[in-house]
Amino acid sequence: MELLEITHDKKDYLDLLLLADEQESMIDRYLERGTMYVLSDGDVRAVCVVTDEGEGVLEIKNLAVSPDCQHHGYGKQMIRLMEERYRGRFRTLRVGTGDSPLTVPFYEKCGFREVYRVKGFFTEHYDHPIFEAGRQLVDMVYFEKAL
Ligand SMILES: CC(C)(COP(=O)(O)OP(=O)(O)OC[C@H]1O[C@@H](n2cnc3c(N)ncnc32)[C@H](O)[C@@H]1OP(=O)(O)O)[C@@H](O)C(=O)NCCC(=O)NCCS
Repeated sequence: MELLEITHDKKDYLDLLLLADEQESMIDRYLERGTMYVLSDGDVRAVCVVTDEGEGVLEIKNLAVSPDCQHHGYGKQMIRLMEERYRGRFRTLRVGTGDSPLTVPFYEKCGFREVYRVKGFFTEHYDHPIFEAGRQLVDMVYFEKAL
């Protein structure tokens, strides 16, 4: 398994990025300034985009595992690889996600804890309602763990 940094043609992975963030204009807000990684064993298993938010905070802006590879440990492996790569350079790993039963338990399993919420983020910034597991996403929930 290889971790590749993608510096050009990041939109080649748009199908995957859209799994985690379904509005392309929102992806455009962080894709260029973000550092993008792909986990691959010949086939692409997962993608991740991280940004430097200042004051020692590294934020995961996008994390997606290929649909036929989900629940096989690739998401957790990507988080672990980010931790190994950035430990010592950043103090905190942060991620924002919808209040969804598909993502919150995953981040909790990876050792993240909820720190704050931005009320109405999804209803305010996205041009259409977003539903996950039958529930409309409204607030952005931020999780952090120490690096
Ligand atoms: C969310 C996502 C990144 C998780 O990656 P994954 O490879 O499927 O998850 P993993 O197999 O690494 O799971 C790690 C742990 O979390 C648990 N977990 C994962 N999803 C879960 C869920 N929906 N409910 C409960 N537990 C869950 C696993 O059981 C596993 O537990 P373990 O360590 O005890 O074995 C992946 O499912 C995905 O890409 N989803 C679509 C895009 C998305 O929503 N991205 C997140 C945007 S914030």
